[in-house]
Amino acid sequence: SDKPLTITVTGAAGQISYSLLPLLATGKLFGRSQPVNLHLLEIPPAMSALNGVVMELQDLASPLLRNIVQTSDPTVAFRDADVIILVGAFPRRKGMARRDLLSKNVPIFTGHAQIMADVASSDVHILVVGNPANTNAMILSRAAPSIPSRNITALTRLDHNRSCSLVARKCHVTTSKVEGVVMWGNHSATQYPDFTRATAGGKPAIHAMGGEETVASEVIPFIQKRGASVIEARGASSAMSAAQAIIDHLQSWLIGDDRIVSMAVPSDGSYGVKEGVWFSFPVRCLGSGEYEIVTGLEISAFAKPYIDATADELFAEREEAIAISQ
Ligand code: NAI
Repeated sequence: SDKPLTITVTGAAGQISYSLLPLLATGKLFGRSQPVNLHLLEIPPAMSALNGVVMELQDLASPLLRNIVQTSDPTVAFRDADVIILVGAFPRRKGMARRDLLSKNVPIFTGHAQIMADVASSDVHILVVGNPANTNAMILSRAAPSIPSRNITALTRLDHNRSCSLVARKCHVTTSKVEGVVMWGNHSATQYPDFTRATAGGKPAIHAMGGEETVASEVIPFIQKRGASVIEARGASSAMSAAQAIIDHLQSWLIGDDRIVSMAVPSDGSYGVKEGVWFSFPVRCLGSGEYEIVTGLEISAFAKPYIDATADELFAEREEAIAISQ
């Protein structure tokens, strides 16, 4: 339509946003006929850097980009937002324990939640990227009960994409030929990238991946540690690939997708994962923000301990986060 959609991005002067904003401004998400307003939120010390990012956004000369708002006031940033991408978070420093990371981030997401509930569009869709993403989404939802919990999701698409790309490389096909990969659980080192049903060009991929034993000893850890490998090599965490994963996630979720994708959503008890955590499941996206968790997949004796471990971690994070928020 001609009416611009308003997209809010937090942490807008950070490295993921630097790769994400040009994609949003030039129609990579909603297509080249949908104008957008960008509302950019940062903390006061980053306002100068944000101003530079805004200059560059203007200099893209994108015909789709209408209003740009740069602010450190969440009420201004979230006003009338149709889509909110929560990238801003307190970064994990070296040696920082999970509890410390939570104690920094719980107040940020609680504070933002209440403001969003008051001023965002009534049908707002929210994607949490900032870590610990699954638990931040849970905290956000608890603090904003008027926003339907299914309108809040967390990003595990990067882990899913990493897995699809690995299958494609091992099987010598393009990623468009890869199906059946599922990323289960937490966006953390306990994530379970599941290759059991992966196919390349319609054929099972598990043999080309080295068989079940090699998948367990090498392939799964390779994906679990991929983020750390990027940091090690680049001296900075994944940003370009995270930005693309954000676009992929939002496209599947808000526009629809023929393929089954992985997305962290409120658990409904499927696969023995109790309600109360945002768990990455295989989902079918039906368009316009509608999705359903794919049920009935067989969980093998191989897969079960992985799924239980990542669920246990999420419930432990939930307990710590709730203790901090009280
Ligand atoms: P970054 O440190 O470059 O940027 C984060 C920005 O957020 C900074 O500019 C900071 O000033 C801002 N910020 C901090 N607190 C804020 C607040 N209360 N309100 C608004 N802005 C705030 O970090 P980067 O590389 O862009 O990553 C952002 C987050 O995304 C991190 O938490 C990172 O761990 C996470 N991440 C998640 C992935 C996923 O798959 N879920 C993948 C990659 C990164």
